[in-house]
Amino acid sequence: MAENYKRYTVTAALPYANGPVHIGHLAGVYLPADIYVRYLRSQGRDVKFICGSDEHGVPITIRAKKEGITPQQAVDKYHELIKKSFEDFNVSFDIYSRTSSQTHHETASDFFLKLYNDGKFIEQTTQQYYDEKAQQFLADRYIVGTCPKCGNENAYGDQCESCGTSLNATDLINPKSTLSGAVPVMRETKHWYLPLNEYEPWLREWIVEGHKGDWKPNVYGQCKSWIDQGLQPRAVTRDLDWGVPVPVAGAEGKVLYVWFDAPIGYISATKDLTPDWETYWKDPESKLVHFIGKDNIVFHCIIFPSMLKAHGDYVLPDNVPANEFLNLEGDKISTSRNWAVWLHEYLEEFPGKGDVLRYTLCANAPESKDNDFTWKDYQARNNNELLAILGNFINRAVVLTQKYYNGEVPVRGELQDYDKEVLGVLEGMPVVIATYIERYRFRDALSELMNLARLGNKYLADTEPWKLIKTDEERVKTIMNIALQISASLSILMEPFLPTSARKLSNMLNQPLGDWMAAGSADLLATGHVIGTPELMFEKIEDAAVEAQVQKLLDTKKANEAANAVVEPAKENISFEDFSKMDIRIGTIIEADKVAKTKKLLKLKIDTGIDQRTVVSGIAEFFNPEEIIGQQVSILVNLAPREIKGITSQGMILMAENADGSLAFVQPSKEVKNGGTVS
Ligand code: 2FM
Ligand code: ZN
Repeated sequence: MAENYKRYTVTAALPYANGPVHIGHLAGVYLPADIYVRYLRSQGRDVKFICGSDEHGVPITIRAKKEGITPQQAVDKYHELIKKSFEDFNVSFDIYSRTSSQTHHETASDFFLKLYNDGKFIEQTTQQYYDEKAQQFLADRYIVGTCPKCGNENAYGDQCESCGTSLNATDLINPKSTLSGAVPVMRETKHWYLPLNEYEPWLREWIVEGHKGDWKPNVYGQCKSWIDQGLQPRAVTRDLDWGVPVPVAGAEGKVLYVWFDAPIGYISATKDLTPDWETYWKDPESKLVHFIGKDNIVFHCIIFPSMLKAHGDYVLPDNVPANEFLNLEGDKISTSRNWAVWLHEYLEEFPGKGDVLRYTLCANAPESKDNDFTWKDYQARNNNELLAILGNFINRAVVLTQKYYNGEVPVRGELQDYDKEVLGVLEGMPVVIATYIERYRFRDALSELMNLARLGNKYLADTEPWKLIKTDEERVKTIMNIALQISASLSILMEPFLPTSARKLSNMLNQPLGDWMAAGSADLLATGHVIGTPELMFEKIEDAAVEAQVQKLLDTKKANEAANAVVEPAKENISFEDFSKMDIRIGTIIEADKVAKTKKLLKLKIDTGIDQRTVVSGIAEFFNPEEIIGQQVSILVNLAPREIKGITSQGMILMAENADGSLAFVQPSKEVKNGGTVS
C-alpha cells in the first residue's frame, strides 16, 4: 500500500530501567510497535525502530535506594535485563539504547540550550516542597498526595496514574514525602518552565482540528480535554542529583526533568544508530509514530511536540497510537505488588513459546479499552486457535504433500467455483490485513490472518483430499496446490505477528519469506518446487502448565496480604476475675465429620477429660477430618451450648488466625493429659 512518506521513524516508549518488563508493557506498547515495524519492513519500506532504557528521574533513584545500590548500578542491572528479554521475545528494535549514554547527555543538553538561547523558557523562582528530614526538594515521585481531579490518595507530584492527569506537586492535597513520610515545607528554588499555555492555539489547530478522526479516540479525547481545560507552564528542570545536568550557569545541583530528557532519548538513540539520523527526524517526508501506553499520552502528544515545535527543526508525530492497560487475572498489573507476568520469567518457564504469548497479547490487546489477561485464555488461544486452526491446516497441507507427491508442489489443474472463491479471498488478504495494520488495529489484522487459516482448514475439510485421492488424483493435485499457496501466503502474512512460527513455516515450505504484497498470489510456490519436512508448528499447552502459573499468582496474593496485614490493636483491659471465668482445657479430637450441606463446618467429638462432647467448629476449609483425629486442642468448656445446623455444640475450640484467614490449632507444646487446665 503506497503512502506519501518516504521513511518511518517508529519509537516505542523508553521503559524505566527500574524493573523488568511485564506483559502489560508488551501488550500496550512493544508488541504493536513490533508488528507495525515488521509489516513495514516486509514491504521494503525504510524504517528505523527506536527504543532504549529511560535511566533518569525519581523512579530510578527510588529503586536504587530500595535495593541499597547506586542509581548507576540500578540502571546497569535493569538495562541489561530488559534489553535481553526484548531480544529473546523477538522485538526487532534497530537500536536499544540508554539515556545514561554520552550521546544522550549531549543531545539533551544541546536541545535544552537551543531552547534556552532562543528564549523559549520562562525562568521562575517559586516555593517548592522540601523535606527537612531528608534535606531534599521533593520532585515527582518523591511526593504523594491526593489527586485534586479523581481523589486517588497516592497521586505523584507530576502525575496521577489513576486518572492520567498531569500534575504539579503543589496541586496535591495532603502532600507527603515518600522519602521520610514527613509533611513537606515550602522552600524557594529557581527553575525553567516551558510555557505550554503559549502553545495552546497551535496545539488546538494541530491536534483538535488536524487529527480528528485519524488519532485513536482515546488519545484524541485525552488531548482535547487537556487543551480545553487550559495548559499551564511546565517546569523542565528539577532539584535532583541524578539526571542530565542543566547546562547553564547558576543551575548547579539541578538536572533536566526526566520527561524533558527521555523523549529526546529517541533522537539520541537514532544518532547512535545512523549518521543519517537527521533525515529520520527532520525531513517532512519522514513519518514519526510513537507507540506508548495511555499514561504517557500527555507527554507524547502535548509536551514533547511543544518542545519539538519550540526547537523548530523537527517533524511532529503523525500518530501516537496509545493503548489502554492490560490487567492480569482481574487485577491491575503492579510492579510493587509483584502482580505481573514478567517477560524474562515467562521466556524461561515457556521456552520456545514467545509466539504464543505474542498471539495471546495481540488477540486480546487493550486497543480501545482495558483488557484482562488470564492463563485460561492463554491456554485456550494456543490449543483452540494456534494449534487447532493454524497449526492443523499447515500440518495437513505439508504432510499430505509429502505423502502424495514426495514433497513436490503438484500442478494446479482446472479450477472449480469453490477453488476460485478461495483464491479470491486469498488474493484480497494482504490488503485487508495491511489496512488494519496501517490504522493501528492489530487485533482485527490478526483476526483476519486467522480467518485465512480457518478458510484453508475449511477448504481441506470440505474437499477431503484424503478420500478423493482414491478416486480423483488430478483433482487432489489442484486442491493441494491451492492449500500450499495459502500456506506460503500465511508464512508472509503471519511474520509480523508470529515471527518465529513464520520462519519455521518458511523452512518447511523451503521458500524464503517474500514481500508482503507477493502474498495472496496463487503462484507463490512453483509447480515442482520441493518443500521441506513437516514439523509441528505449535504444541498443546497442558492444564498443569497454566495451573502452576495461577498458583504462582495465588501465592503472590497471599504474600501481599500477609505483608499488608495489620495486626489488630489490643482490646480493652479486663480483670483477672473476668479471665478466670473461662474454663479452658486440653482435649483430644476423637471423631471428626463434615457437617452436611455446609462448606465450613466440622462436627468434632472431643475427649475433654471431663467428658466426651460434641463441638461444631468452622474449620472445614483448612483441615481434613481424617487428618485431625488424635490431635490435642484447647477447648473452652464452659461456653453455653449452642444449636448449630441442628447440632448442639458444647464448647469452642481455640484457633489462631493467620493474615490470609487460614487457621491453626492452639495446642500444648508437649502432650498434656486430657482435662489439663489452660490458665
Ligand atoms: O512511563 C515510562 O515508563 C517512561 N519511562 C516512558 C518514557 S517514554 C519516552 F518519552 F522516553
Ligand atoms: Zn487522579
